[in-house]
Formats: sequence, structure tokens, C-alpha cells
Amino acid sequence: MKVPITRPFFDDDDRAAVAAPLDTGWVVQGPNVAAFEGLFAQHTGAAHAVACTSCTTGLHMALVAADIGPGDEVLVPAFTWVATANVVLYVGATPVLCDVDLDTFNVDVDDLARRITPRTKAMIPVHLFGLPADMARLNALAADHDLKVIEDAACGLDARIDGQHVGTFGDFGAFSFHPRKAITTGEGGMVTTADAGRDALLRALRDHGAAKSDLARHGDKQAFLLSAFELMGFNYRMTDFQGALGVTQMKKAPWIHERRTALAQRYDRLLADLDWLRTPAAPAGWTHGYQAYVCLFAPEEPTFDRLDALRDRRNALMSALEADGVQTRQGTHAVHTLALYRDRFDLTAADYPNAALAENLSMALPLFPTMTEAEQDWVVERLKAHGPG
Ligand SMILES: Cc1ncc(COP(=O)(O)O)c(C=O)c1O
Repeated sequence: MKVPITRPFFDDDDRAAVAAPLDTGWVVQGPNVAAFEGLFAQHTGAAHAVACTSCTTGLHMALVAADIGPGDEVLVPAFTWVATANVVLYVGATPVLCDVDLDTFNVDVDDLARRITPRTKAMIPVHLFGLPADMARLNALAADHDLKVIEDAACGLDARIDGQHVGTFGDFGAFSFHPRKAITTGEGGMVTTADAGRDALLRALRDHGAAKSDLARHGDKQAFLLSAFELMGFNYRMTDFQGALGVTQMKKAPWIHERRTALAQRYDRLLADLDWLRTPAAPAGWTHGYQAYVCLFAPEEPTFDRLDALRDRRNALMSALEADGVQTRQGTHAVHTLALYRDRFDLTAADYPNAALAENLSMALPLFPTMTEAEQDWVVERLKAHGPG
């Protein structure tokens, strides 16, 4: 049996939705993108939602809208997808990496607090794999030090703290619709904000700086006159094919989250007797989005001096699973060990020991809404058969 790490879910509604713009002829940022934004805002409880081409471009626009630039420092977890740090470089600011907590894979708030300087202007907490970051503590620090908060909610769809959706705690939230995420539009992103002025700014930034969108202009008199352009923007417009797919995917989001949660809880039960594998958990009252089911391989206490030996054992297990047709993946990467960051900021793996351990000891198991119990049983059976080595 072959069990992939993920399998995006598409049905006939998705297929019809993607084809429809071919008939209307409106294929870029039109009525379907607007409809997707409306559904997304409603689902998350965000006052405003602005679609764009990816979470990366959404984070970039949020930093521009927050007026972050050269000379500014931005706090970023060291264990995250490289885009979270890259966007800080895009605006000429300095990403200041912070270590993470191995129990949650999210930023270690104490470590982050120690790295605040007079130049710190913002933080980008990440809700990694769908587990919310500790927004109460992070927002309190931000208030004390007058920092902007840009939530990297790439993995955060349906992640909530006491019912409040992630992406609505900070100044901005940025979501991803890449195929590894719960719902997908191929590539795609969404930025949320509570502020009408920021919403208007984001809408201009994604469209070359235009004060009025093409859709609005076409509905007006004198549509032949182009918009005013008051600031430097980008072309981060989502296509209407993607918007249409976003609408039909959004309608399935509650079912997708329900399926992912049921499967994750079934993993929790089936893996409870393995003392060498730490499974993901959310505090009481928090809702895990389960973008991924990422475990920590820990047959011994995961300390930095054991990193190489434990990594070799984890990799041997992942290779054995691969040979059995079970796809696993490391959770994400330790940004400070990537050549760009290591060399530019003169970093070593030991500078962020937990991030290094997380990269080398994390293991994502297959999780997707159409996964059958037989597929899941196969994953668990092979994991138990091989053991920690
Ligand atoms: C934590 C995190 N941030 C940002 C991104 C970038 O998202 P996108 O591919 O939509 O640009 C990802 C994507 O995997 C991610 O996992």
C-alpha cells in the first residue's frame, strides 16, 4: 500500500468553478476573488480579507503596510519555512531569529523577549502546522514594546484560541493556499486585518499601487480612465480561476477540518503507547488546525549533543517507511542552518539548538481528508514494526 504525505481534495464543484471564468472571460482578480475574500472573512471572523498570490507575498505586503524597512529588526522563529524570514529581507530590514519550543514547534516566547532591542519594530509569530502560537503573551510583549504583529498563519486555517481564529490577533494575518495546506488554490494567499485603512492599502499594494481595482473601474462610468497610482505596489493579484476554486474549497473547509481532526485524534490514540514518539497536542480551549501531523522522534531526551545520533536513527526510520510506501517528511527547516542565513548572519546550528533539533527530529505523518482507516492503520503498523532503531 502507498500512503502519500498529502492528497489535495477536489470534487466536481471545484472542476466546474475553475472552468467557469473561461466562459465569462474575466480571469484575473474579478468577482470570484471578491467572493472568496467574503467567505474567508466570514469563516475567520476577520473584518477584512485581501487575496493575493501566496502567503509569502501576503507577508511582504503586510510588512510594507506596517512601514517596516531598512534599520528595523523583525523577530522571526528559527524553525519555519524560509519565506517567513525572506520577506523581512525583501523590505531591507533585519530578521532576528528566535528559538522555538520543542513541545509546540512554535516560538519560545522567553527567547523572543530576550531579543527585543530598541530597533525591533515587529514580530512574525508562526502558527506552525496549525497549532496557534501563544498570542496572549506575544501581544502583551508587542504592546509593551510598541511592535507590529504580523501573524504567519500559512498553516493556520481553522486554528483557534478560545474560539478566536488565528490571523485576527495581530495587526495582520497571512494565510497560504499551497497544496500542502488544508484548502488549496494551487498557489494563493490571503491577508486579514481589522483596519479599513490597512485593507485599502493592501488592495492597492497588490495591484501596482492602483487606488481603484479593475473590477470597480469596469462597474463605473468613464471606465476608460485608468486609476490613480499614489504608491509603489506590486503585481500580487490572484487569478479568478484561483478565486473560483477558493470559493468551492472554502465551502468544504469545515468538513476538511473535521476529517483532519478525526484522523489526528485517531493517530493520538493509536500512537499513545509509543514512548519514543511525541505526538502534537493543543492546550485546553485551543483548536489545532492540523495542517500537518508532526511528531518529535525522541527515543532519548532530545539534547543538542545527541542531535547527530538521533537524526541518523530518525532518518533510518523514515527511509524504512519510504520503502514500505509510507511517505513522511521533516516538519520544516531550521532557517539559521540554511546557507543564506548561516553565512549572512554568521550563525551556527548551536545558536538555536531547539530549531536545529526540530529540523532533525521532526517527522510529519500522512494526513489528508480522504485518508482511509486502512491507510492510517498501515502507517501505524509500519511505524511500530520498525520502531526507533
Ligand atoms: C510557516 C509558513 N510560512 C510561509 C509559507 C509560504 O507560503 P506560500 O507558499 O503560500 O508562499 C509557508 C509555506 O509552506 C509556511 O509553511
